[in-house]
Formats: sequence, C-alpha cells, structure tokens
Amino acid sequence: MSEEEVELEARLAEQDEFEPPASFVEQANVSDPGLYEEFGENWPECWEHAADLLEWSDGYDQVLDDSNPPFYEWFTGGELNASANCVDRHLDERGDEVAIEWVGELGETRTYTYEDLHEEVNAFAASLRDLGVEEDDVVTMYMPMVPELPIAMLACARIGAPHSVVFAGFSADALATRMNGADSEFLVTCDGYYRRGEPLEHKSKSDEGVSGVDHDVTSVVVDRLGDDYDHPTIEGDHDYDSLVADHAGETVEPVPRDAEDMLFLMYTSGTTGQPKGVKHTTGGYLSWAAWTSQAVLDVKPEDTYWCSADIGWITGHSYIVYGPLALGTTTVMYEGTPDYPDKDRLWEIIDDYDVTQLYTAPTAIRSFMKWGKEYPEKHDLSSLRLLGTVGEPINPRAWKWYYKHIGGEDCPVVDTWWQTETGGMMVTTLPGVGNMKPGSAGPPLPGLDVQIVDTKGEQVEAGRAGYLTVQKPWPGMLRTLYKNDERFIEEYWAEYSDTDSDDPDDWVYFPEDGAKIDDDGYITVLGRVDDVINVSGHRLGTMEIESAIVGVEGVAEAAVVGGTHDIKGEAVYAYVITEDGYEGDDDMRERIVAGVEDAIGPIARPEQVVFTEELPKTRSGKIMRRLLEDIANGEELGNTSTLRNPDVVTEIERKVKGD
Ligand code: WTA
Repeated sequence: MSEEEVELEARLAEQDEFEPPASFVEQANVSDPGLYEEFGENWPECWEHAADLLEWSDGYDQVLDDSNPPFYEWFTGGELNASANCVDRHLDERGDEVAIEWVGELGETRTYTYEDLHEEVNAFAASLRDLGVEEDDVVTMYMPMVPELPIAMLACARIGAPHSVVFAGFSADALATRMNGADSEFLVTCDGYYRRGEPLEHKSKSDEGVSGVDHDVTSVVVDRLGDDYDHPTIEGDHDYDSLVADHAGETVEPVPRDAEDMLFLMYTSGTTGQPKGVKHTTGGYLSWAAWTSQAVLDVKPEDTYWCSADIGWITGHSYIVYGPLALGTTTVMYEGTPDYPDKDRLWEIIDDYDVTQLYTAPTAIRSFMKWGKEYPEKHDLSSLRLLGTVGEPINPRAWKWYYKHIGGEDCPVVDTWWQTETGGMMVTTLPGVGNMKPGSAGPPLPGLDVQIVDTKGEQVEAGRAGYLTVQKPWPGMLRTLYKNDERFIEEYWAEYSDTDSDDPDDWVYFPEDGAKIDDDGYITVLGRVDDVINVSGHRLGTMEIESAIVGVEGVAEAAVVGGTHDIKGEAVYAYVITEDGYEGDDDMRERIVAGVEDAIGPIARPEQVVFTEELPKTRSGKIMRRLLEDIANGEELGNTSTLRNPDVVTEIERKVKGD
C-alpha cells in the first residue's frame, strides 16, 4: 500500500460517522430534514405521500382504518391494479425506455422496454385466464432469476390472482408445503437454469414437489435450458413460450383491486416448524415499496438501478420488481453468482450498464472483501450514486470497505432494517438527510414509531439492549398470516404487548429482533431473539431444520443453533443424539445433511454436525440453546448450574473443538 492509502485506511478505521456527500444531497429525492417532523405531526395522513406515487382507478376514502386492531386497513375504499401501476402507466412517457435489463449466467442478455413488458405481461395474463386462473386464485412460482418470473408476477397482479413465489433453491418438500398451505392449484416453473456455466435441472424437483400436493395442479414450464436439457413433457404441462405465442397481441384489462385485496403471499420462517404465509395487500404494500424506493434508494426514472437479491425473497419482490417498476425506472436482474466467470462479475455489470444504485447483502460484501479490492478496481464504478445493504447487521469493517472500494467515498450507504412482514424498509438513514454510522441502521423512517423496550414494554435507556417494536401501524405491514388470524396475533402482537393488556389497542408489533438505540435515536439491530437464524441473509427456522434432522433414520433428538461465520454471518450448527444401535459416523452425517437439503434446501445445510450422548437441558427439560450457541461461537460459557446435566456441556465443547 502507498503511504497515502495507509493514511486513508487509518482515517476510515477511526471515523464512525459520515456525512452524505454534498453532490448526492443536491440531487436527492428527499433532502429536507423537516420531513421527520412533518410526518410525525401529520400522521397518518402523511402516508398520502406514498399513495400519491401510485395511480388509483378509484380514490380511497380513508388513509387508515384502525377500528379493528391489529387488523389495520390502509387506503380503504381505494381501487388500483399493481400491474397497471408497474407497466401501463409508464407507456406514454417511457414506453421505449428499458424496464428490465436481464443478464444471464452465461453472459447472454435480454432487454425489455416498458412496451415489451406490457406485451408479454398481457399475453401471459391472457394465458393464465385461459388455463382457468380466476381472480383470487393463488398462483405459485418456483423459478430462478429469469425474466419470466417478474412477468408472471405482473400477469397475476393484472388479473387479480395473488402470487406465491417459492425460492428456487428450496426443496420439493418445501414447495409442496407452500402449495398445500396456500391451496394453490397453479404453478409456473422452469426446466432448469445455469450455475457456474453448467445447466442445473430443476423440473424433476418441481415435479416431485407437485406430487406432494394434495390437490390437482396445472403447471406452466418455462424453457430456460433450451437444447441443454431435453425436458420430458409431463402430460398436462403447458409450455410458457407456446402459451405466450398463442396469446400474442392480446390485451387484458387490469382488474381493479380493492386497496386491501391480497397482492401476494410470501412464506417465511418462524419459531415453529411451519412456515408462515405472510399476506401483503395491493394498496398498502405497493405504496410502501414505491415510497421507500424513492426516499431511501433515491430511485428516479432515468436510473439504472440494481438490487442483487433473488426475487424468491421479499427483497426481490419489493426492490427488484414492485418498487422500481412502480417508479418507472430500469431494474437490473442478474441470474448468476457473483464469482462466475470471475470474482469481478458484479463490477463488470455495473461498468457495462452504468448502474446508478447497488442494493446488496452484507454477506456478499464480506465475500467481496475477502476476494480483494483488485476486482472492483478493474472496472469503472463511477456511475454509482448510492449503495445499500439489507438482510442482516453489517459490521463496520465491511461497511467501510463497501463505502470506500465500491462507492469511492462518494456514495451514501443505506443500511436498511426490515423484514418480510414489514413489506419494505423501516429503519435506515434517509441518504440525502442523515449522517451514516457504520454498524447502526439509523433512525426509523419518518412517520414510523419504533421503540426499544424491555419485557414489560417499557422503553429501555439509550445504549441498552431491548426488543425492537413498532408502535404504530404503517401501510406496508402484513395484514395477517394466510388463513390464520390467530397465529398472526400470537406471533406478532398479543404476547409481546405492554404488560398483560388484552386490549388490542395497546398491542404493538414485535418483529422478534433485539436492538439498542443511541442518544441520537440511531438504532443498532442486534439480531433475532426467537429461534430463527440468519444464514447469508436468509431467514431459517431452527425448528424446521431440527424436524428435518429428526426425520432421518437413526436420529433420536436434535438441536440446531446459529454459530457466527465470517462470510455467512451465521452458520447452522446441529447437535444430534443418535438412537441406540446407530453410530454418529460419516455416513450418518451425510444422511443428515441430505435430509436437511431434501426437507428445506441446500441453504439450510449444517456447517457442523456434532454427535453427542445428551443435550444440555434445564431441570424442566428445556434445551439450553444459549449454551449451544456459546459453544458454537467458542465463547466463554455462561452459568451452567441450572442444568440437569452440566457435564454434557464440557463433553460437547470438546467435540466441537475437535479435541
Ligand atoms: C434481519 C429481509 C440487521 C432481521 C429483508 C430481520 C437485519 C430479518 C437487517 C428479516 C439489517 C434484515 N440489520 N438485521 N439491516 N435487515 N435483518 O424476512 O433479523 O428475510 O428480522 O427480510 O433479517 O429477514 P427477512
């Protein structure tokens, strides 16, 4: 390193607060600090600002209906269509401008203008109708990052059929569970996709999933692999390309949807083994995705904006598809991995397309750091104006690396805290307003009331850890868990509300995250306080993984915890007791890993499987997960005196260390 660089590194290492660059503030969509006060005073009407970003076929009567908490309703009486908002209304002014720039794993590209998008969305909407999809039918999508995925989502939205996208990396079992849970009779899937240049077959996994569905399923298959895979057509399967060709040129009137009508379902992990079907609505969700894209990601129509998440997760829904397209910008979609064909893939794409914003995950940034700055240095990244992160806490070192080596110290970095349930961003700095503090997400967005409380619901002092709560409703919030209002209340509201009140007016939203707040109102999110772990920014329920492991022949009991991991943030640690007559050997370990991959998918694969005779349990028989976490993290163990079997802890520790 040159002397200058050494000096720069040292300065950055010490600096813990950064002002937004003046050049950014000048052009920012939001740069008025007065917005916080204005929204605070003018709540809930302030959210008209969000609704105003959309086109309503029928105006709403009321901003917020809070007469039946916690079933809040937003923009009641209003009607709109999400597909019309994301496509049709841009045609006049921006029909020839690019809506989606798609970059395939093999380097091939496809460009969809708003006109092109309109054409294909209409043709596929007509196809879905032809197949019998009616308003309110849930259509499942089980596809990787191909353009047909957002097209299918928008086609569903057009005819008022909610979609439920299942991440392509999930297993056949996971697909079946979600299709059964949503009573979904339609599936859009694909033959396969490419990973590291090699075709990866997907259709048989999809078929296996369908065979586990307890009702008939109509499937549409996208041909992604062409001649690389001769996919056997199963009787009754429909070919996407033929459908779209048959319906080419047809137009389907966007169905006016009530603001509170479901736009989509998204399954996410929770404390119990059953994934939760989070319900998002047309008016509230879409306005939230649009408003946060505009205020936080600073999206403008002339931008080329890129979120590198997968559409199979909420981040991709809100910030690849709905937010950016609602604002009429160009959204980049990349099919592949960041290190194929080489570790500069992302930087090459930014350079080629003059990308203006990059929104990615801390786990990716930690990998980039490990690979080294020489990769971004090979490319011109000066088109970038803003950087963002999401999915897990970002450590200050990674933040500063991102700020310096990707942003050239000239782009604000927004660290955005939110979740599947919140629909969009909740806690982050506004990039044109607030100073950034690496490691701390920032203040709640204007109009949000976020407080850090103790178990009694009292606010904790600045600097002390507590539970993050959202005290007032917001438009993007989930409305319920699909067909399970009871679980919705139990999981998010009643249990964690102020003292023992059973008055829903006193309840607050509890996202199951721990956090602390500084004197200046900046919030540092500490991580989940339930049995959910965050592996590479992906939310996994430990109970789901445990039940997969216990399903393996010869396993008597299992406990899963998250152990810290340099790149992934957290990794899956499994502690397993075998049944009598079974050995905890390599074969068993392989069967356990395969069991988890079959039940959930490779993302949940255990990093370590530790066989043990016993698990540390309290006298009442509860597994002490905290101790298992300490062991996984190689930390000093807390108090073990309440254990029924304290000796087991030293035994497990020895095994993890490999002594
Ligand atoms: C975590 C992803 C710290 C958190 C959008 C949350 C974060 C869970 C951040 C939601 C952040 C997300 N800092 N932690 N900036 N963003 N999380 O539903 O624990 O997949 O509850 O939504 O990720 O994950 P989900």
